[in-house]
Amino acid sequence: MTDSLRTDIKVYFAPMEGLTDAAFRRVHYSLFRDADAYYLPFISPTQNLVLNGREKRNVLKEYNAGVPCVPQILTKDPEHFLWAADLLADQGFTEINLNAGCPSATVTAKGKGAGLLKNTEDLRRLLDRICTASPLPVSVKTRIGFESADEWEALLPIYADYPLKRLIVHPRSCRENYDPFRLHRECFIRAAGAYKGELIYNGDVFSAEDAQQLQSGVPCLSGVMCGRGWVADPALGREIIGGAPLNKEEVILFHDTLAEEWQRIYQGDIVFMKLRVVMKHLACCFENIRKNEKKIRKTRDLKELLQTDRQIFNTCDLRKDAAFIPDEILKEQDATHI
Ligand SMILES: Cc1cc2nc3c(=O)[nH]c(=O)nc-3n(C[C@H](O)[C@H](O)[C@H](O)COP(=O)(O)O)c2cc1C
Repeated sequence: MTDSLRTDIKVYFAPMEGLTDAAFRRVHYSLFRDADAYYLPFISPTQNLVLNGREKRNVLKEYNAGVPCVPQILTKDPEHFLWAADLLADQGFTEINLNAGCPSATVTAKGKGAGLLKNTEDLRRLLDRICTASPLPVSVKTRIGFESADEWEALLPIYADYPLKRLIVHPRSCRENYDPFRLHRECFIRAAGAYKGELIYNGDVFSAEDAQQLQSGVPCLSGVMCGRGWVADPALGREIIGGAPLNKEEVILFHDTLAEEWQRIYQGDIVFMKLRVVMKHLACCFENIRKNEKKIRKTRDLKELLQTDRQIFNTCDLRKDAAFIPDEILKEQDATHI
């Protein structure tokens, strides 16, 4: 890391539905205290205006004690948003985030998530109402368009018209999903000049060097939000703010503590399925990624998975450039080199 790295950059853990649940956040924060906040996987209020069990376990304060968290709402209905905002204000949160980025077809078909970007009049109406009436400051996590990145020029001035707590930008259109070959950082950099509020970058930041490059290209960058890269390297946030890189003992401790905590909470195959996804990410930081990935994929139950994970920890060292690698890129690389 070079001397020019600013260490006052904020680091936010991205919401990842199914993965970064309350137990994950508690375990991660207890071992790595670097996140300025964990953005919570969305809750999606409907006409019934009740939280389901999973949503309660996600947002109620007894599950988040001592962990800096920002809840996220997936809706197109301002009154549903405000109902949730009241409830979340009572839970002690100090910010509420609007999801304008979820690319799932079932979500966008209902005009929610990235579906909000299809109709800018509706987006304005939603922001008008929630920014006026919300008891909590509102932030937005957005993509840069629905069909294409060209829509960003029209979208950014809309966000600039509202007193947002912060704007988190994932520079892909909804159609681009998480395609590693389509990421429009230049759009984000253009936005940085024009946008006067707090701007956070999100998307494919998998190493501290990458965050550093972003910072040098965008001097007014307030922070970065990392998801897959931070699951793969649980010390990524620490390294981005100038701390030590990951070491093997802490990966193992993180894995084991999380496995234990999830087994305490969940029954049946849930722990197996969740832990397998986490281990697929963690395996990116170890040698023999392709071989290990196959072994992890072949496991059929938690016992087998825990044995496989232990074998990987016992026999493989951390890679020198330990970092997340998207599947699409992994497939393109020669397995013998990694
Ligand atoms: C499994 C999974 C679940 C996600 N769940 C959410 C979510 O609930 N809310 C949200 O805003 N983004 C969600 N995202 C998107 C991430 O927050 C983030 O924007 C995306 O992974 C890109 O950042 P990264 O390249 O640092 O991973 C999810 C992504 C994944 C892969």
